[in-house]
Amino acid sequence: MAHMDDQLSVTVLGLGPMGSALARAFLRHDHATTVWNRTAAKADALVAEGASRADTVDDAVTASKIVISCVADYDAMYDVLGSSVDALRGRLLVNLSSGTPEQARQAAA
Ligand SMILES: NC(=O)c1ccc[n+]([C@@H]2O[C@H](COP(=O)([O-])OP(=O)(O)OC[C@H]3O[C@@H](n4cnc5c(N)ncnc54)[C@H](OP(=O)(O)O)[C@@H]3O)[C@@H](O)[C@H]2O)c1
Repeated sequence: MAHMDDQLSVTVLGLGPMGSALARAFLRHDHATTVWNRTAAKADALVAEGASRADTVDDAVTASKIVISCVADYDAMYDVLGSSVDALRGRLLVNLSSGTPEQARQAAA
């Protein structure tokens, strides 16, 4: 398995309990991991463990081909990603926020 190459880099937006655990798991398996959280201090522990801190959502999105959004709900996801739609083109966005099937279909569209 390749290590720390661009193919396997991942960005995690939202560092609540689940986003933090995911980012930690990616680091543990040697994926280059970029993190962003609205409250920046919540990234400190992960940065100490090897994650790269992005200062802006755009920087976070453009750092990786795979972008995982793990914020509280769909409204929060739109708040976070609303101004970074262009940066998302050509990347895989995985949204892990809880929501309804209809919200998932709308977001995919
Ligand atoms: N925890 C689990 O085991 C689990 C399991 C399954 C599914 N989920 C789902 O995964 C998602 C994340 O869960 P979680 O427990 O990790 O965290 P959470 O407590 O549901 O959400 C906290 C995260 O959302 C961010 N956030 C909330 N509103 C925001 C906004 N308007 N703009 C930007 N960021 C915003 C918070 O940023 P700040 O730090 O700045 O407040 C924080 O990063 C939820 O939808 C949850 O239902 C969680």
